[in-house]
Amino acid sequence: MIIAIDGPAASGKGTLARRLAEHFGLPHLDTGLLYRATARALLDEGRDLSDNKAAVAAARGLALLDFDEEKLRGREMGEAASIVAAMPDVRQALVEMQRSFARRPGGAVLDGRDIGTVICPDADVKIFVTATAETRATRRALELKGRGEKVDYAAVLDDIRKRDERDANRSSAPLRTADDAELLDTTKLDVEGAFQAALEIAERQYAAASQS
Ligand code: CDP
Repeated sequence: MIIAIDGPAASGKGTLARRLAEHFGLPHLDTGLLYRATARALLDEGRDLSDNKAAVAAARGLALLDFDEEKLRGREMGEAASIVAAMPDVRQALVEMQRSFARRPGGAVLDGRDIGTVICPDADVKIFVTATAETRATRRALELKGRGEKVDYAAVLDDIRKRDERDANRSSAPLRTADDAELLDTTKLDVEGAFQAALEIAERQYAAASQS
């Protein structure tokens, strides 16, 4: 069973993907971490985020790194990740790693921006998670605050809008809803409500996929 969860920044896709993975006993890959780790590696080497060659080398070297999520989840790294994620060669360097994760026996849950469209177009379950930019900014500000970061709601909202724009308008694997994905708007849902809605979609789509 392959479950593809896509959506914009702070839509809640990561939490949903984790909960679904737990529920079905599947491994979970947060693909945003791959782009965040690529950007982190570049910055740690003192390179510029626009250095395409170094970015590709960093992406290719990722398998060798142990992800330190604490270092990757900050506000700055989301922005940096979306810069390297717009480079087609960087995306190409990360495709096989993601596909081989998805091919694990029994399946997997992957969340990101292009899972249902590019990485796993044949996924059994595809959900596109959204929420208004304001709701997402509120959630992200709370999350960053919880991690001890100093945050300003207006700046977070601005980040989110900028990132939506960059992710949706890049030429390589732009953020878009796969034709066969189901839209889940979590604006008015709490974590449990969103999980129940996602579970219902996943069970229904999986049953349909198993019959065809
Ligand atoms: O949690 P949040 O949605 O803020 O960020 P993330 O999922 O960790 O992704 C960070 C950035 O990586 C995004 O803004 C995208 O530019 C990029 N990304 C991507 O291009 N493709 C993916 N499959 C996952 C992330």
